Amino acid sequence: MNVYDSERMAEALVLSGYQQVETADDADMVILNTCHIREKAVQKVYSDIGRIKPLKKKKNDMIIAVAGCVAQAEGAEIIARAPVVDMVFGPQTFQQLPDMLDEVHALRAKGKKSRLVRTEFPAAEKFTALKSVTRAPITRSPSAFVTVQEGCDKFCTFCVVPYTRGEEVSRPTADIIAETQALVDQGVCEVTLLGQNVNAWQDRQSGLRLDGLLAQLGAITGIERLRFTTSHPRDMDDALIAAHGNNLKLMPYLHLPVQAGSDNILTAMNRKHSAAEYIELVARFRAVRPDIALSSDFIVGFPGETDADFDATMALIEHVTYAQAYSFKYSPRPGTPAAEDEAQVDEAIKTTRLHRLQALLNGQQRAFNEAQIGNILPVLFDKPSKKNGQMSGRSPYLQTVHVTMDEAIMESVRGRILPVAITAAHNNSLSGHLSDGD
Ligand code: 5AD
Ligand code: SF4
Repeated sequence: MNVYDSERMAEALVLSGYQQVETADDADMVILNTCHIREKAVQKVYSDIGRIKPLKKKKNDMIIAVAGCVAQAEGAEIIARAPVVDMVFGPQTFQQLPDMLDEVHALRAKGKKSRLVRTEFPAAEKFTALKSVTRAPITRSPSAFVTVQEGCDKFCTFCVVPYTRGEEVSRPTADIIAETQALVDQGVCEVTLLGQNVNAWQDRQSGLRLDGLLAQLGAITGIERLRFTTSHPRDMDDALIAAHGNNLKLMPYLHLPVQAGSDNILTAMNRKHSAAEYIELVARFRAVRPDIALSSDFIVGFPGETDADFDATMALIEHVTYAQAYSFKYSPRPGTPAAEDEAQVDEAIKTTRLHRLQALLNGQQRAFNEAQIGNILPVLFDKPSKKNGQMSGRSPYLQTVHVTMDEAIMESVRGRILPVAITAAHNNSLSGHLSDGD
């Protein structure tokens, strides 16, 4: 979602006459769009500010802004700690960016210090404003994100999102369709719908749910692939599961975080589902789409996690089998209930558990990739690979696929879905050659 928000900020600035440059050295303005989910991400913001600071010394009129969830959570604290920062604004207010910039310039013109902090919570207003901003193409990718839902009411005891992104708000159907159509007009054929709880999306007026939205988007001429992320197991409904069997545009890939495999820990996390319920949900998806690739998020070392609890997470992973996953050590976040828990797990134990968990997940990912060798997969080509003479794209299962081809045809395959014979599998990608369809 931060990638999407950053693109929208860049677009808003392009429409105000700014131009995107490659490095901070060339910039008149630098925006750090930040994440507050784990402590590491927060520390990164301050080290990044430290790196940019000397540039402002050289170029006095440079504007430094901190946006996103760290801005939301820390507000004016950021300027107190890093006075070099001019603007601080949360994830719900970035559509006011052009106005905020005008204010900064006006303050500077009067010889005043520019200090602007905006951390209100008008999420619905943000969606209205997004509607009026036309999408200026800043990338040439055939694949784009569209935010359909923001915020979270689940209050998992480890998580800051309900505090930084606010309550669940769904974007109206017509706006989502209009934005998707505008993207299609620019050559986009794959759209990933975004939301902190994307499967909680609902059109307030019509009652339409995500399966219905996906059906409408799939009917747009030019849309070839649809994806959505991130879902909560609790908001999954029969119709959305069925869509994975009957919506031909919907890709066979599902990111469905479980976080842990022990019922004690799931209860303490306030996830409101058991390990068995999650496993049953996965079985229902596999019943309608046997080849579906599953992905998840895991947290190790949640307060009170015993060896037996951790073993239950490992057992769940063995049972479900994932195509890929994200895993983290528990990071206490200020203001969340779990941070107050006295039973914090020792850092060294967290590290050992994370290594064991990642070894298991990496093995599953490798096996999933290896199982594709010999198959012909439709690949949506996106950009040249880092390695010369190769283009890369994505399989239906979201695997990166590198394909060696003639320099001369590279540009012509960008944005197209072509059959690729898979010849090799790696930890994080596949490689193959264009297939003539035999
Ligand atoms: N510590 C570690 N991981 C966390 N996540 C959210 N909050 C924390 C935390 N305090 C992880 C969850 C979530 C993902 C986006 O980030 O696994 O699904
Ligand atoms: Fe955070 Fe996701 Fe839980 Fe919401 S559902 S509180 S975003 S982990």
